[in-house]
Amino acid sequence: MLVTGSISEIRNTVKLWKREKLKVGFVPTMGALHDGHLSLIRQVREHTDRVVVSIFVNPAQFGPNEDFERYPRQIEKDLKMCRKQRTAAVFIPDTSIMYPEKQFLSIQIDKLADHMCGPERPGFFEGVVLVVNKLFNIIKPDIAFFGQKDIQQFQILSSMVKEFNHEIELQMGEIVRANDGLALSSRNAYLSNEERLRAPSLYRSLQYIEKQVKSGIDEPSLLIEHQKNELEAKDFKIDYIGFFSFESLKPVQKLKSGHRYILAGAVYVGDTRLIDNLLLDYP
Ligand code: PAF
Repeated sequence: MLVTGSISEIRNTVKLWKREKLKVGFVPTMGALHDGHLSLIRQVREHTDRVVVSIFVNPAQFGPNEDFERYPRQIEKDLKMCRKQRTAAVFIPDTSIMYPEKQFLSIQIDKLADHMCGPERPGFFEGVVLVVNKLFNIIKPDIAFFGQKDIQQFQILSSMVKEFNHEIELQMGEIVRANDGLALSSRNAYLSNEERLRAPSLYRSLQYIEKQVKSGIDEPSLLIEHQKNELEAKDFKIDYIGFFSFESLKPVQKLKSGHRYILAGAVYVGDTRLIDNLLLDYP
């Protein structure tokens, strides 16, 4: 397994593979790998001949009061996990390699970041688009995999691929959950034992709402309010819970037959922000 922080080295390696007509898959990560990442790596491996993983805690996607400094870093453990998954190359650039000088251009996102996680995390999706755009230009994979847990990120990156004409196929990997339903996330490491026990309640609320909606409720606002109250009673702080259009990511009050929706939520348990979602094809 090649481990490099050099742009030219990873570029040349991928170029050689492509010359040999090998298909290259890519999983961008910020490290602190868990089973969710490993499942993405496995899926990429099924679709391609060579898998590249990047590990880069991207400062551009953290707000000034967010957790950039304390974001979990465990590079040796991550490399071991990548090796076990038969990853062909791991790209681990330094910040000085990814952002070597003052940048004169910036990313602006129109509409797709107006709802869901956008308002609470200003600049976050712009930072994600910036770094993934750079990584795509460096690695030039044929396919890249991202997790459904960050579904707004996936939809915004899909627009980026389309609008910036990247010749890359994006695939979304299903959410991997712990036995009690909690969606796996590197940030789960922040939870205290007591918070960890409470954390799956968000998923349970989403499941409950989904079940009620499937049994015929098409205007779920009261149902959602009730679930928010239940979560608040368990000491969760709610950012949002609701249905959003799968395409525009706009909030939806009335569900229409034959449409696809994202039922998504973001809550704080203590200081830790948890997000989760379910996809619903309304019958
Ligand atoms: O989902 C993540 O881990 C990050 O947002 C990504 C896509 C690796 C960009 O830094």
